[in-house]
Amino acid sequence: MSIDLGVLETEARAALEAAGDAAALEAWRIAYVGPKGQVKAAMAGVKDVAAAERPAFGARVNALSKALEEALAAKRSGLGLGAAGAAASGPLVDVTEPGRVSSEEVGRRHILLRVREELVEVFARMGFEVAEGPELEDDEHNFVKLNIPPGHPARDPIDNFYIDDPAKTAKPRMLRSQTSTVQVRVMEKAVAEGGGELKRPIRIIAPGRVYRPDTVDATHSFMFHQIEGLAIERIERGADGRLCMLSMADLKSTLFNFARAYFGAEAEIRLRPTFFPFTEPSAELDLKIRLRPDQPVKWMELGGCGMVHPNVLRSCGVDPEQWGGFAFGFGIERLAMGKYGIPDIRMLFENDLRFLRQL
Ligand code: DAH
Repeated sequence: MSIDLGVLETEARAALEAAGDAAALEAWRIAYVGPKGQVKAAMAGVKDVAAAERPAFGARVNALSKALEEALAAKRSGLGLGAAGAAASGPLVDVTEPGRVSSEEVGRRHILLRVREELVEVFARMGFEVAEGPELEDDEHNFVKLNIPPGHPARDPIDNFYIDDPAKTAKPRMLRSQTSTVQVRVMEKAVAEGGGELKRPIRIIAPGRVYRPDTVDATHSFMFHQIEGLAIERIERGADGRLCMLSMADLKSTLFNFARAYFGAEAEIRLRPTFFPFTEPSAELDLKIRLRPDQPVKWMELGGCGMVHPNVLRSCGVDPEQWGGFAFGFGIERLAMGKYGIPDIRMLFENDLRFLRQL
């Protein structure tokens, strides 16, 4: 007995129309388009059709099958069930549906991390490698080997986070107050690798956290980030007898190139003489920059720098007659605040999304 495909289609569409929920749709699917449904049964009826008409009949059953599947899919999405709606017992989740998260809500790295990476990138292009040191240090690395002797005012417990009592402990531990500690660590390691002697030049930058018990206000925080730089090269005598060594001019051109690369071709720098125990001569680095087209050009203090003091080299096992170089250190927050016009350092640590989303 051959089946009247027209009647089957009319019936099927009426039943689909009547189905109102996921369970009813599933029952309809089983009855009509499933492997044991009426459409499959109609296909089996092809054997009753005259041989000459079989291909046409088969084609009509296939077309009906496809049309009914499409009607089912349309009905499902009309009911808000999505393509996976047939899994009637499970949660009605369509994993193929495009997400509703807009691009503004996609996460991003914190502005300080991005500035740190940008700085690393600029210095990497000048041949500086990243070095790291511990945040939990001892006063040997934070002070003694940086030519800051006992009794120096910078070592006052009021101004430092000591872990051990400096009055009672030989090598008191402390949270480092400056990334200059990494200069010492890097030189000590290079000397150890050279079997007690420096055998290769050094060119590193060390970004990282530092801690000082400052009262928190718009420009101070008890924790902030610095980026330290150190370049050491062998002192050589040229064929003409002149000494060839890293000088203040190399320091200045390095900082100038950095300023241009990071802040743009308009940036100017100036070095002002000052004092640091670990460098001689020492200078304060200022950057002259117009941060926004509508703002005046101004000088901004970035950090300190200078030629590494012979005492520092010696305390790390480096012979100051044979090796010399320069160092510098800036505050990363200050740089970020300058570059992005951030008025208050606390905004960098509060993680208020309304602020972070603007950067
Ligand atoms: N360590 C200094 C500070 O925290 C900054 C500094 C000054 C670093 C001069 C240096 C340097 O490497 O040469 O204030």
